[in-house]
Amino acid sequence: MYKTLILTISDKGSRGERIDTAGPAVKEMLERHCFQVTAINIISDDPDQIKDALIKATDSSEIDLILTVGGTGFAPRDNTPEATIAVCDRLVPGIPEAMRRESSKYTQRAMLSRAAAGIRNNCLIVNLPGSEKAARENLSAVLDTLPHGLDMLLQNRGECATTPDH
Ligand code: MTE
Repeated sequence: MYKTLILTISDKGSRGERIDTAGPAVKEMLERHCFQVTAINIISDDPDQIKDALIKATDSSEIDLILTVGGTGFAPRDNTPEATIAVCDRLVPGIPEAMRRESSKYTQRAMLSRAAAGIRNNCLIVNLPGSEKAARENLSAVLDTLPHGLDMLLQNRGECATTPDH
């Protein structure tokens, strides 16, 4: 089981002005595979707050995967990709490439997500867009492949014991 943190990134969500349905949807998808979700934390779009949350979680050695949800578009407060790139040691461009490629089968607007992915310490960080529909579709594109990447990163410590159900 890969220990996973979901970070919903939304100014409105962090103020309690928007109900986060994407975070719980991502959690439910992950738990049907070999991921154990330790928490869904909701934070603001403030770049320093995003970086602090990513650094804290990746320095702890207790989290194998962080999925961020939201803040990948063009709005002035969409800071998630820059914060992710700033804290990562190594980028993994193939993951957002695959998400945008598969998502373009659903909507041309897939190209508007600036999502990034990368590795900091022994943790993989993947950005997802913020709507429940977009988060589900993007995660579906990479979910079956993430365990192999995590097995390499963790040197099989968290090897997937279950068979994906799709
Ligand atoms: N990807 C999929 N699969 N489905 C979607 O509906 N929406 C797009 C894009 N990616 C979408 C998608 C839109 S409209 C935007 S603006 C970007 O994701 C960024 O979303 P975010 O700002 O919520 O992160």
